[in-house]
Amino acid sequence: MPVASDPRSAWIESTLGAMTLEQKAGEMTQLTLGALLEGTNPYEPTEPHRLDLEKVRKAVETYHIGSVLNCGNHAFTLERWRELVSQLQTVAAERFPATPILYGVDAVHGANYTTGAALSPQQIGLAATWNPELVYDLAAGTALELQAAGTPWNFAPILDVGRDPRWPRFWETFGEDPMLVSRLGVAAVTGTQSVGVAATMKHFLGYSMPLTGKDRTPAWIPERQLHEIFVPPFRAAIEAGAMTVMINSSEISGIPVHSDEALLTGLLREELGFGGLAVTDWEDIKYLVHRHKVAATYKDAVEMAIRAGIDMSMVPADLKFPALVVELVREGRISEDRIDASVRRILAVKWDLGLVAESNPPAEHVVDASWRAGQRQACLEAAEQSITLLKNASQTLPLSADRPIWVSGPTAHSLAALNGGWTGTWQGTDPRYDTPGAITAVEALKSSWNADVFHFELAMDFDAGDIAAAVRDFRRHDGAQVAVVFLGEMPYTEMAGNDEEVQLNANQTALVEALAATGASVVGVYLGGRPRRMEAAVEALDGFIMGYLPGNEGGTAIARVLNGAVNPSGHLPFTWPRKTGAHLTYDHKYTETLDLDSSFTAFNPLFEFGSGLNYSTLELVDFQTDQTVYNLQDTIRAQVTLRNAGQRAAEDVVHLYSHDHVASVTPSVWRLAGFERVAVQAGESVDIAYELPVQQLGFVGRDLAYVVEPGDFTLRIDSLTTTISVNP
Ligand code: GLC
Repeated sequence: MPVASDPRSAWIESTLGAMTLEQKAGEMTQLTLGALLEGTNPYEPTEPHRLDLEKVRKAVETYHIGSVLNCGNHAFTLERWRELVSQLQTVAAERFPATPILYGVDAVHGANYTTGAALSPQQIGLAATWNPELVYDLAAGTALELQAAGTPWNFAPILDVGRDPRWPRFWETFGEDPMLVSRLGVAAVTGTQSVGVAATMKHFLGYSMPLTGKDRTPAWIPERQLHEIFVPPFRAAIEAGAMTVMINSSEISGIPVHSDEALLTGLLREELGFGGLAVTDWEDIKYLVHRHKVAATYKDAVEMAIRAGIDMSMVPADLKFPALVVELVREGRISEDRIDASVRRILAVKWDLGLVAESNPPAEHVVDASWRAGQRQACLEAAEQSITLLKNASQTLPLSADRPIWVSGPTAHSLAALNGGWTGTWQGTDPRYDTPGAITAVEALKSSWNADVFHFELAMDFDAGDIAAAVRDFRRHDGAQVAVVFLGEMPYTEMAGNDEEVQLNANQTALVEALAATGASVVGVYLGGRPRRMEAAVEALDGFIMGYLPGNEGGTAIARVLNGAVNPSGHLPFTWPRKTGAHLTYDHKYTETLDLDSSFTAFNPLFEFGSGLNYSTLELVDFQTDQTVYNLQDTIRAQVTLRNAGQRAAEDVVHLYSHDHVASVTPSVWRLAGFERVAVQAGESVDIAYELPVQQLGFVGRDLAYVVEPGDFTLRIDSLTTTISVNP
């Protein structure tokens, strides 16, 4: 029992002590806003969305709910958010003991449910910037929007590691490498919490590598891989002070994570030391009955999940949960002490967010047009830093803005294609909730080009006839220097993005090939969050740019990269597979490229993890380490020089990789050991230093303990290598 000496503990203990069991159970209940709005269906509330005060009073006064999430089913203005939340808090303030509503929303690329908020690249694009400081600043900006709305709990960042591009939420991750996900995850968590908003580590754990590639289908992840690949980002975020965690809806090797005490208590709390709030994902206690079939009744499922370690249930619309909690305690199936532990963690978050009169409410931040303009500029810079140049045959790019271009492709004139899911609505597909004033890629090109921009509109479902028409139109504009073709996908998230097709849409390939057949230069821009197999299209293209899901400013960023106003500096945070049947991450094992003649064939993706070109002439030289032999507790100091022999200033990301020559667990061919994003002026050089603790060269051993084994290691930067030895 915490000593109630400090005001925080005193408030928590006095509030808890004044609560009935029913109130405690209610505190653990999170309702979606739709369940409190006028209408008969909580998922299709009456428009315009208005609180049904009878529902609010019943939920708050009778069921004592502790939390609300979401936006009904579409974005609101900031003013409307403030009205809605203020009405809820007014009712909550009248209850005794007075506990405020903890309001959580998904704001995964800016405050995507607040109309007019700046929208940044999605996480996969932020990962391509390899810029933790930028991620921190964007997260803090998003948090200030949320705080102004009265929703100081962000269900972000995703810390799942994107190991399988088939997974429909791949684009919501920071990519395939645990170190990159950890570094950017910590930046997002600390940026969010730096202004007094709670971050959410999600989705704990092992959600992003389902065997089928489909959302919420079983993952088979052995203990060692779990600890080697999926635990590190959560460990890092917990060490950085993450306040909350959301649980993975799916199962690992037959055990639904919401029912897994070994993970939610043994690993999360005891091993990783997480002391914050654990919230379920959407309706996932019920799904233990209806989907996973590990519980015969909802009541059994509630007992299972609470025993496993959840604190709050995202029910999200039914009010049976609190009543079942009360029954389970009254029947002795769950102790009241266990309930108290969860309620304490929930009350602690409310105090720490300044929601309680006695705690220190955060300073009022004014969200006005000029502040938002600054946020949009930050989002533009993020988009510019994310865009990744992957092919530039015969220096096709940059283009001259003084010469006309011809533009087409199904994502050229679409804000949805720039933003992806979680934009205005859950799926991001309703143009009624596009940000007023935001411009599409082709609109951005037109406003940034001095010469003509000829646009031939194509819808996503264009066909061969449309391709022929497009080619005819291109030929009619034969003065255009190149054809710029915007490829990719329209938004989706979660199961809506399940797709057994991993190839680029065949008509998009045919469009590129038909335009290339005219003999003109063709530049492709891909807007989408997962790498589709598109070898033929890339072969036919002279230039190829990955735009990811660059957000509302993405069109402008792409235009500025195309005309050379921006020197591209993005680098792939994932491996881009070449063949349909083969996907390997960069950190694969030797035997994964073994050939019949027992040789190790070259790893041959379409584009490698970490790759990205620019418009300068950069060269890495003089890679060296301060020693060649180290002890286990030493730090390796490495250095390399980046030369810019070109005519343009550049920024680049320089990756350091390590390889363990022999290990008791099969070593990866390469593993990321560090990265630095640096700027180098034309004609100048810059020295880049890395500090690599020898302890970082370890792995999860045969006994599942982390181990660093003495022996030889190769360190590599680009094609420069050096070998070091570690003493016992
Ligand atoms: C969804 C997602 C989760 C999100 C939550 C609330 O199902 O899995 O990422 O935070 O529900 O919207």
